[in-house]
Amino acid sequence: MGRINKLPEDLANQIAAGEVVERPASVVKELIENAIDAQAARIVITAEYGGKKLIRVEDDGIGMDPDDARLCLDRHATSKIRRADDLGAIVTLGFRGEALPSIASVSHFRLRTRARGSDSGTEIRVNAGIIESVVEAGGPEGTTIEVDDLFYNLPARRKFLKSDAAEAAQLSRFVTQLALCYPEVGFTLASSGKKVIAVPPVRSLSDRLYQLYGDRQDLIAVEREFGGVRLHGFIAALAEQGPVRGPQHVFVNRRIVKDRTIAHAILDAYSVATNKERSPEVHLFLEVPPDRIDVNVHPTKAEVRFKEQSLIHEIVRRGLGDALGKGPAPELTLRSSDVMPGRPMQPSIPGALSGGSFPSRWAPPEQAWKPLESAAPAAVQQPPAAQPTVRPMIALGQFRDTFIIAMDDEGLCIIDQHVAHERVLFERIMERLTTESLESQRLLIPIVMELPPAERAALISKAEVLARFGFEVEDFGGDSIKVTAVPALLDPNECDAALRALAEDLEGLDRGLRIEDALKQIAATTACHAAVKAHYPLTLEKMHHILEELRATAYSTVCPHGRPVMLRITRREIEKNFDRI
Ligand SMILES: Nc1ncnc2c1ncn2[C@@H]1O[C@H](COP(=O)(O)OP(=O)(O)OP(=O)(O)O)[C@@H](O)[C@H]1O
Ligand SMILES: [Mg+2]
Repeated sequence: MGRINKLPEDLANQIAAGEVVERPASVVKELIENAIDAQAARIVITAEYGGKKLIRVEDDGIGMDPDDARLCLDRHATSKIRRADDLGAIVTLGFRGEALPSIASVSHFRLRTRARGSDSGTEIRVNAGIIESVVEAGGPEGTTIEVDDLFYNLPARRKFLKSDAAEAAQLSRFVTQLALCYPEVGFTLASSGKKVIAVPPVRSLSDRLYQLYGDRQDLIAVEREFGGVRLHGFIAALAEQGPVRGPQHVFVNRRIVKDRTIAHAILDAYSVATNKERSPEVHLFLEVPPDRIDVNVHPTKAEVRFKEQSLIHEIVRRGLGDALGKGPAPELTLRSSDVMPGRPMQPSIPGALSGGSFPSRWAPPEQAWKPLESAAPAAVQQPPAAQPTVRPMIALGQFRDTFIIAMDDEGLCIIDQHVAHERVLFERIMERLTTESLESQRLLIPIVMELPPAERAALISKAEVLARFGFEVEDFGGDSIKVTAVPALLDPNECDAALRALAEDLEGLDRGLRIEDALKQIAATTACHAAVKAHYPLTLEKMHHILEELRATAYSTVCPHGRPVMLRITRREIEKNFDRI
């Protein structure tokens, strides 16, 4: 007698469910995806006890006729693909014909559906994968699926679920993400009797973002298209405290996706722009022709495989890099001082005191979803490089030995000489470090410095890293260190202050610090100490030099700490105030 037997279908479904249905949120995701594939315009989701007790998803989509309603509960029954070739270019969210039988095998399941234009509908009840009843039923066009007591027949799985609140949060995250992907669909989520999300259909992504997150001046638009791949979305701008932290939403062909290549490209883009890049908020949408991506690589479809991984990396990195670097210089609004007579004198450039007002960065409403032309590039080419982001400027002079006043065709600029130079040096140092070490100058008389023990230890333990910057630091016994060489770009008089700042930085950083982070921190501190100071007179020549270097810098409008490098008074603003337009 052989030892092998074929598993009954309900048991096979339960095993499959182990992969597809991890938790209530995964049920909600599958059901919403089905509703979207069925062309729903509105989807209403109800959850009780974090979805453990009840999940209901109602849609106004095309519905199913009685035969399809029965069939959809069979394993591998799908309307979305027919033959092997279809797998090569999937355009629907579902394609495996697994979700419904899996969910029905681990719950009390009820399906009610009526096909568009049909007089009556069908209701099917299933318990733990066994069909209990199939009856004709009324109800609106579209489909409603109710999932009660998820995992009631698998107590071991149920035990692994988190608290109701944690499951509810995860579930609403998925609804939010799907709502972002489909602005043209209305979503309502009620969780434990409370309305958590209610967003009617809108025309564009920026409208949907507004519905979900309110007015967000701290996000900037990203838009890039190359080789048939389109990237668009909104990302955290570089504020003084670094970019805003927040959810990192990445969608590929309107699927929720976790992808290492994209995550790496995001980090890369921010790490060049600022040294405070920790989990910046991004809402990014990639559109890739379906035949250049494999979506059938993960049990819950949470990952995809790109045919041209490095192309995707470059598009994301450069798309974000451009958006961050091009973040416009804050514009000042002029106000003449006699506008409000009798009031105390207002500063004539209010922005100069308040730090300037940022213009709205919201892009004009765009079309919600434009299908791609699938113009495949001949090979993996490099997208065109970022253009210099600052126009050529002529230095006019220096204000209070601290700000360079300059002009170009489009207006006047006030440039913080220290911040601008710091940005230039930071990039130069980081660029240099990718291939070699910084040039070093040997000190005629070594500096011996006393430092608090923890800071001293931090410097000594990073001696090798510091050497790449041109610092030679060694233990000098007791509380002291000896410095025998420093970076060539550093004024020897600055060494003491720079090393103390570095010691403080390095000591403050956690132990598990990544080497790139340490390098960036050191680069930023070195650049800060090597840059021209405020209250320091400059020749016109030196001013021009700084402006030219700035123009060649990719991220020229923000310093490595995220502060603005320059403020701008536009030609329009000047002409308006002189009544010339
Ligand atoms: N809300 C719905 N409205 C109309 N038809 C639906 C709906 N949900 C499911 N169906 C039909 O039932 C079929 C099976 O659904 P199921 O989710 O199990 O598989 P799938 O969506 O085809 O693939 P996957 O397992 O990848 O999700 C679908 O192909 C579709 O034809
Ligand atoms: Mg499905």
